[in-house]
Amino acid sequence: MRNPQLNEHGELQHLLSLDGLPKSVLTAILDTAEPFTEVAEREVKKLPLLRGKSVFNVFFENSTRTRTTFEIAAKRLSADVINLNVATSSTKKGETLLDTVDNLCAMQADMFVVRHESSGAPYLIAEHLHNTGRHHIRVVNAGDGRHAHPTQGLLDMFTIRHYKKDFHNLTVAIVGDVLHSRVARSQIAALTTLGVPEVRVIAPRTLLPTDVERMGVRVFNDMHEGLKDVDVVMMLRLQNERMNGALLPSPQEFFKVWGLTMEKLARARPDAIVMHPGPMNRGVEIDSAVADGGQAVILPQVTFGIAVRMAVMSMLAGS
Ligand code: CP
Repeated sequence: MRNPQLNEHGELQHLLSLDGLPKSVLTAILDTAEPFTEVAEREVKKLPLLRGKSVFNVFFENSTRTRTTFEIAAKRLSADVINLNVATSSTKKGETLLDTVDNLCAMQADMFVVRHESSGAPYLIAEHLHNTGRHHIRVVNAGDGRHAHPTQGLLDMFTIRHYKKDFHNLTVAIVGDVLHSRVARSQIAALTTLGVPEVRVIAPRTLLPTDVERMGVRVFNDMHEGLKDVDVVMMLRLQNERMNGALLPSPQEFFKVWGLTMEKLARARPDAIVMHPGPMNRGVEIDSAVADGGQAVILPQVTFGIAVRMAVMSMLAGS
């Protein structure tokens, strides 16, 4: 079957998911991002790699970090950036997703950065571009439903590599609402591909997919057991907007059992880092003492996101 993400030379054509991408591609993205972290230190924070290209940010769901860092990344690469305001766009008058895409293509779009509440929407766009012969236009998935958030997964891998240097001797725990989390799916795909020997998920049974073990993880239903001696703790946001019905007791009770406090974090290695993709629910999945503490690398994750998104866009533009 055709892999819509890679061209016939194995180069990245679109970034839709980390599932099925080889280690060499993931490593190439992380390596490409390394020098881009230094662009922020320059007086002129610009490179000409996307000069003359038009990048359309098309976000059908709310975003602070992803939309803004994609915009910064594209501007640092000298692209023209157009942020479609979906709330005031003609999609509100009933225009379909693909009609919107066709119209943006008619404005000479070179790249779409797409966030959508429906899993698969960026695939649909990539297939549509392929089927209509517009092979030069690139699509980046900025989060689709519960399915994938590949640039979040990549910036998380960049952060882990920055602090831990190597993936091959790590124990990593992903904690919380795995069931509704596109971030968790992308993290698990990347961690397993990059050779992390032990990936744990720690969650109540109601917040785990039924086939979670098939993703190559160890499952824990107890924070004290699951956090023992881990090197990296990756917290997840409780995705209330994706829950149908009561899967949980109250947020206070959830915090008591599953919230990351300093006391629970003490079970991890003393040099363990704490990550969170944001936005955080303080006092629900994470205590402020942890979120603002010395082991948290939550804000560096955001900063690294710019370099990683620069890497993805420059590689796509070059393929
Ligand atoms: N991590 C993340 O996707 O954050 P935003 O929803 O603010 O983009």
